[in-house]
Amino acid sequence: MSNLSQIFYTKPSITQKEIDYATDAATNGWGARCYEYITRFENLLKEHLGVNYAIATSSCTGAMHMGLSALGIGLGDEVIIADINWIAPAAAVTYLGAKVVLVDILPNTWCIDPSHVEKAITKNTKAIIAVHLYGNLCNMNELLSIGIKYNIPIIEDAAEAVGSIYKGKRAGSMGAFGVFSFHGTKTITTGEGGIFVTQDAELHEKVLTLSNHGRSRAQYKQFWFDEVGFKYKMSNIQAAIGCAQMERIDELISKKRIIFKWYEKKLKGLLLSLNPEPLDCQNGYWMVTIVVDKNISFDRDLLLQEFKNNNIDGRVFFWPLSLVRKDDERFVKAGENSVSYDLYNRSVNLPCYNDITEEEVDRVVACIKRIIDQK
Ligand SMILES: Cc1ncc(COP(=O)(O)O)c(C=O)c1O
Repeated sequence: MSNLSQIFYTKPSITQKEIDYATDAATNGWGARCYEYITRFENLLKEHLGVNYAIATSSCTGAMHMGLSALGIGLGDEVIIADINWIAPAAAVTYLGAKVVLVDILPNTWCIDPSHVEKAITKNTKAIIAVHLYGNLCNMNELLSIGIKYNIPIIEDAAEAVGSIYKGKRAGSMGAFGVFSFHGTKTITTGEGGIFVTQDAELHEKVLTLSNHGRSRAQYKQFWFDEVGFKYKMSNIQAAIGCAQMERIDELISKKRIIFKWYEKKLKGLLLSLNPEPLDCQNGYWMVTIVVDKNISFDRDLLLQEFKNNNIDGRVFFWPLSLVRKDDERFVKAGENSVSYDLYNRSVNLPCYNDITEEEVDRVVACIKRIIDQK
């Protein structure tokens, strides 16, 4: 067992401000003040993202579930999403009885490939989910054009994309709706939590009703509900932590970018690529990731073992969902998805928690060099 200090892959940055706000919410945030931090948190997000409407939720998965439901997605419908993904947005599709149609990714962004999206559209396609993976941005111009051409809403899962900006617009603000996660591993955290955001007044109203167990704002009768909805609310105490984080958002995003630059400089010359940052875009670099070139032999397990021996958290790239759910008929593999199947085994997420030091980054880089130089 190594006596080196542990290097976490992610861990939130919590200061006295978060502690003070949470303490205030626990002490005073009840009765008439029970929604104060929630409203403030929603307003801070709206301002940051440049959107008109926001509904704080208990998770990003819940926000996605309600958004898809408000769009009327249900039994027999199809929703297109990239094969390489975390299960959360796809799981929300299955909750509604719809099918998850898995398409390939682009080799440079690791996000959904618009040309494969277009090929996978059928008369049953009711939505396309653009997941901005690890902070990398989907090609939104192409996806939005496809959405207009076929009259299909483009939804943004920006759980991993706080701080990412696509041609002047923040991730999460461009689609029919966007969702974010504030799980403890994310750039902004509330412990667990999420948010639904949109520019669409009507969609906002529908999700607001759904989020209140189907009670519309206009409903004056007590405990009367207009439809069967959901209960995915964020608590005032969680929102208090979120407000403190939002007041520090520029600092939190810029630290992510500093960490990325450390890795970029120190890994220079090795046969691998890191998260891209296309022209006119800013990457929030939630998760610094390496993809080792395919023309060199690389054993991912060897690198993960080297990390373990040095008390460093290693994290594998997401698996293709069509591989994990091979025999599940709710998940349909739309094509060969050869980029997804080729890439995941050559890819590893690197520790990039907010308070990581440059010396700790050096320790991570030394492990990578030992394994990659061993050809
Ligand atoms: C891309 C993506 N979508 C959705 C989620 C789900 O977020 P939550 O755990 O808040 O439901 C995550 C969380 O890890 C994620 O990475």
